[in-house]
Amino acid sequence: MKKFAVFGNPIAQSLSPTIHQMFAQQVGEDISYEKILAPEEGFVGAAKAFFAQKEAIGCNVTMPFKLDAYNFAHVDDAAANDAKAVNTLMKTADGKVSGFNTDGIGLVNDLLNNGVVLKDKHVLLLGAGGAARGVVSPLFTAGINKLTIANRTLSRAEQVAKESQYSEIDVMTLEDVTSITPQIIINSTSASLNGALPCNMSAAFLSKCEAVYDMVYKNSPTPFMQEASKLGVEKSLDGLGMLVEQAAAAFTIWTGAKPDTAEVVNKVREIIKR
Ligand code: ATR
Repeated sequence: MKKFAVFGNPIAQSLSPTIHQMFAQQVGEDISYEKILAPEEGFVGAAKAFFAQKEAIGCNVTMPFKLDAYNFAHVDDAAANDAKAVNTLMKTADGKVSGFNTDGIGLVNDLLNNGVVLKDKHVLLLGAGGAARGVVSPLFTAGINKLTIANRTLSRAEQVAKESQYSEIDVMTLEDVTSITPQIIINSTSASLNGALPCNMSAAFLSKCEAVYDMVYKNSPTPFMQEASKLGVEKSLDGLGMLVEQAAAAFTIWTGAKPDTAEVVNKVREIIKR
């Protein structure tokens, strides 16, 4: 049986096995997909042990190992190189391990699935951590016109902008965001995990906003999504679709098959509501 896995720490809450088993069922494959809790300093050993198995095909990598995976793998993928982070590994014919980053394309595909037009838009990205880095180049590839990165710590936003290959990036602190009127706002900060808003919100700030996206997903809309809806933003989306779409892109890398993601998003939505 083909073997897959997801590495993280913690990993118990991961929905990846559920999602990939649904994809496998759709395409009539019988796979094994396990959660592997690697020690904080022990990712490379755990990944080598996994890939030493004859039936191992590929794995996903989540917090805090995406940089370790980037350094461990052979990386040709532009999204992974831009983000300096890898979330998908695959064993190649010569026994080496290739690395990819499907997080950004997962976000872009979920926005497009939900009817959000990215072409020529001004996007505000809140946060400048690992999650933010992964989406910068896929957003430009999708045709956005301008990106503003706002972060609590300005220097981290400056660093992300400096390391990217794009010149159309402005940076600011979270306090200053109400001075602009972005068309799409993406929250990659961890504020929602603590039930907090990532930044000040006002009707004027949101006057041109067509959609807000929170990379977090919970069993109910986050405070950021709720506030945006209250202030008149038509679309407020959470990160569950991004999770499923990044998984689908990984599944396609491993198997060549393109799963039906809409069906899986609906099923997983039911699971997280329980
Ligand atoms: P991830 O890989 O999920 O992006 P990370 O690299 O730890 O995680 O980054 C967390 C992001 O959330 C950072 O942008 C962080 O801001 P700082 O760079 O200033 O630390 C942001 N963040 C965390 N808690 C926040 C809060 N309560 N309000 C606003 N931003 C917050």
